[in-house]
Amino acid sequence: MALAVAFDKQAIRRRFERAAAAYDIFSVVQREMAERLVEQIEREPSSILDLGCGTGYLTALLLERFPQTQIDAVDFAPAMIEQARARVPDANFLTCDIEELELEPASYDLIASNATIQWLTEPERTMAHLVESLSARGELQLATFGPRTFWELDEVLRELGCERGLNLLSAQKWETLLAGAGISRIRAQSCEERFSYPDCAAFLRSVKSSGAGYTPHLLAPGTLAEGMRRYDNMFSNGSGVTVTYEIVTLSGER
Ligand SMILES: C[S@@+](CC[C@H](N)C(=O)[O-])C[C@H]1O[C@@H](n2cnc3c(N)ncnc32)[C@H](O)[C@@H]1O
Repeated sequence: MALAVAFDKQAIRRRFERAAAAYDIFSVVQREMAERLVEQIEREPSSILDLGCGTGYLTALLLERFPQTQIDAVDFAPAMIEQARARVPDANFLTCDIEELELEPASYDLIASNATIQWLTEPERTMAHLVESLSARGELQLATFGPRTFWELDEVLRELGCERGLNLLSAQKWETLLAGAGISRIRAQSCEERFSYPDCAAFLRSVKSSGAGYTPHLLAPGTLAEGMRRYDNMFSNGSGVTVTYEIVTLSGER
């Protein structure tokens, strides 16, 4: 049975739409991931598709590295596209759901995506469809978040009898999924990075401001306050609190 994830896609789109103005301030991890992704690209492509371009940080890096290349960038949040268009006027932008894209077969040499594919509701079907738009030996370069992301928050929520409500796929699951979609020479890697925030409230604010919403907004105010207090106690690092991100990088070719 094909993998399907139960997300309220319209709610996700609205959150990113609202986050567009402040996204660049709070997307420190995402920027690091984008920089690494661009370094991993093996061959100069003549055409690129950037999935979930947000404010265009990755799009700009791609064009900087490959100034002669035609770049098409897609996002379903119009406010994100507006920022991206201002940042990278030479790219082509499309306001559309990645999972509903209609693409010409074999039309891109590179498909790239940073910090986005964890939001796909039908990752298996969508990837299989996207791979068809890669040219022969076309490259895929993706970066996303793995299930150990925010494990500290998970632990606190578990103690309170709640769940985060975001089912992130492991590098291994993505590898299997990409192989099934027709990608070969797959490299699936995962690494954990620890960040420090002044306290749990600042961490949750930052996550919310970058458009990614997790369960805490669904908790009753008393439970949320208790969760934040526990997080501050359990994960204090002396100068603030620790937050882990698991970064999954995936590459391969058609
Ligand atoms: C965390 S941001 C990453 C933005 C950018 N790639 C970066 O590296 O900064 C995720 C972006 O994906 C977009 N997005 C999520 N799901 C999408 C979908 N199904 N179709 C189109 N865009 C989507 C969101 O609107 C958001 O701008």
